[in-house]
Amino acid sequence: MSAAAASTDRREFEFAPADHHAIARMVYAELGILLPDGKAQLVYGRVAPRVRACGLTSVAAYLRLIEDDADERGRMLDALTTNHTSFFREAHHFEDFVERLWPTLSQRLASGGRVRLWSAACSSGEEPYTWLMAALGHDRSAAHRMLKHDLRMLATDVSPSVLETARAGRYSADTLRTIPAKLRATWVSDRLVVDSALREAIAFRPLNLLGPWPMKGRFDAICCRNVMIYFDEPTKAKLQGRLADHLETGGMLYIGHSERLSPDVAKRFECVGRTAYLKVHA
Ligand SMILES: C[S@@+](CC[C@H](N)C(=O)[O-])C[C@H]1O[C@@H](n2cnc3c(N)ncnc32)[C@H](O)[C@@H]1O
Repeated sequence: MSAAAASTDRREFEFAPADHHAIARMVYAELGILLPDGKAQLVYGRVAPRVRACGLTSVAAYLRLIEDDADERGRMLDALTTNHTSFFREAHHFEDFVERLWPTLSQRLASGGRVRLWSAACSSGEEPYTWLMAALGHDRSAAHRMLKHDLRMLATDVSPSVLETARAGRYSADTLRTIPAKLRATWVSDRLVVDSALREAIAFRPLNLLGPWPMKGRFDAICCRNVMIYFDEPTKAKLQGRLADHLETGGMLYIGHSERLSPDVAKRFECVGRTAYLKVHA
């Protein structure tokens, strides 16, 4: 018996291909995430705990329930997002930011100007915290002075559960392990909580990248990493165009290691490093 057939046999709940297709259609329409047939086992693994929690005996019954229960539908969508992340993941982006933009931006802050950064699809917060730690360094009092200036980071995700973790800023010792020791000593307490000054500098907000964006001003830099891999080409191209519109000329866009800019959007940028793009044309 194949591994796939064996795992199908062990399923607690009935899960027909039609159930998978109904879920995939819903997730694509709401979040843009593609869930092809090859992801059926993953979908089952994420949805089964919700079926159990609702006291139902089949995925089909669960699908009927969420037709009228918007909260449960939200919990299912949340469960179907993939939130893998880590501190100092693809650290070359933060090194690039610190070398290329931070000297000018920190001067601007010191002379009363404003700086706006956006971590789009921030998951449980490791990315925005890393970004600020990398920029502020380990001189605690200088960093705290800098944070009193008009420096704001927006960090958004569609998943409410990861945003809760992000706001709390509490991580396991294993999760915190990838922060360089000196920065960890500066920014993480003995109780394994990120410094409140960092937590307060970041506005963690729910935002679906496919929906309307309430932000009015432009950002000096945007990280939108490892979320476009779940989207199809038209969704990626549209999102990238919107990200470019929300970025200052001279600002930086950082995307995930396996992601690329669509040809139309790429014309507005100069590629200046590994998946690091400088906006050169409005
Ligand atoms: C793999 S994580 C990437 C986290 C972080 N950017 C990184 O690179 O480590 C992808 C995140 O994208 C979020 N996401 C998926 N679809 C989204 C959408 N339509 N709008 C906003 N966030 C979305 C997920 O909830 C998840 O937290």
